[in-house]
Amino acid sequence: MTPSAAVHPVQQAVVDAFSPAARHDPYPAYDVLRAAGPFVPGPHGTQLVTRHADCEAILADPSWSHAEEPALLHPDSDVELAGSFLWLEPPDHTRLRRLVSAAFTPRRIERMRARAVELVDGLLDSALAAGEVDLIESLAYPLPLTMVCDLLGVPAGAHADVRRMSAGIARGLDPDALLTPAELDARTRAVQDFAALFTELIGRRRAHPRQDLITALAQVEADRDTLSEHELLGTLLILVVAGHETTVNLIGNGLLGLLRHPDQFARLRADPDLALPAVDEMLRHDPPVHLTTRTARAELTVGGRVFAPGDAVIVLLGSANRDPEAFARPAELDLSRYAGEPRPRRHLAFGLGLHYCLGASLARLEMEAVLRAVATRVGRCELLAEPLYRPNLVVRGMSELVVRLQEESTP
Ligand code: HEM
Repeated sequence: MTPSAAVHPVQQAVVDAFSPAARHDPYPAYDVLRAAGPFVPGPHGTQLVTRHADCEAILADPSWSHAEEPALLHPDSDVELAGSFLWLEPPDHTRLRRLVSAAFTPRRIERMRARAVELVDGLLDSALAAGEVDLIESLAYPLPLTMVCDLLGVPAGAHADVRRMSAGIARGLDPDALLTPAELDARTRAVQDFAALFTELIGRRRAHPRQDLITALAQVEADRDTLSEHELLGTLLILVVAGHETTVNLIGNGLLGLLRHPDQFARLRADPDLALPAVDEMLRHDPPVHLTTRTARAELTVGGRVFAPGDAVIVLLGSANRDPEAFARPAELDLSRYAGEPRPRRHLAFGLGLHYCLGASLARLEMEAVLRAVATRVGRCELLAEPLYRPNLVVRGMSELVVRLQEESTP
């Protein structure tokens, strides 16, 4: 739909919030929606939840279910995206999340820090040597892909396949109504290829166990009656897709934030310890995941509005993170926002409640490694072209970010 005098500004904002053409900057549309009210009618009979307080209240309340999302957004889907606990509720959600949480102990994550630092250093060596690079291709993609593949135990030879499959699946998370027939076919193929690759890897790890997550989950499936083969594949699928498509965009969006706010880049270079709080500010300012859905399991009241059982909402995380009721100067990138006391309101980039992101600490440590390396090694970084965005709505980010890099001159 194109803007026209006949279209009401709020309706236009709903269109823009979901339109590939507005992917480079959906924030003005969110501003219009928040100003229009806490709830705005959205697609598929949903209500869009625009404000931080209401998004927070819904996510924190287990009476709102996530299990209906596949049916809501993918009603005609011929593939099973739902074997994963992201779309399950207790008790199945609790059982599966507990199994995977065992792999995300603080000790294990800390051990991955050294690997992240080593990978970032190598990637930055090549990028600085090249001078002109696409930061998505040279840094944002390879780091999280390698980290999640290492964690799971995917051999290096299969990384490119995993990248292709998860790109197809990540686009397929968007509502079916927004996908072209080619994108729907690509999703079907990607899920089938994923199942074939991981079924083969599971077989190999059963025969020759290793210290990786595929082995650990395959052993649980073999030894006890707590994980079916279907759930095992669904769990691996969500770890791969949620584990790197999102972090790619945190790295890309965060680095673009530095390019667009040279004063903040200068602050980071002067004080590389800002890297850790900067990660949360970047997650707030330009989050990788823009929305999720919930369905009322009972009659529920939020922000004074009564929802009947079965009513569905689209929780606009990207809008909540820019809500002026929750954050002072919300459009500004302020790397020290999360550095001091009192702590500002929490951002919702990792969600909240039962489905709070399981990989949040891994994502934070990867981005911290990137920012520390950039702060200490990059003297200048200049945008060479307008960034290109992927059409993706749920997991939003760039396909290309071309820059000229210059090494920090040594004293
Ligand atoms: C910057 C990077 C990341 C962002 C912004 C992000 C965001 C999110 C969000 C918003 C949710 C909740 C979705 C909902 O409530 O509907 C979520 C859940 C999840 N994330 Fe992440 N994520 C990131 C990185 C990771 C990584 C690195 C992993 C694993 C290696 C991971 C694994 C998961 C899993 C398994 C869930 C489902 C949790 C559940 O349903 O209990 N994520 N993530």
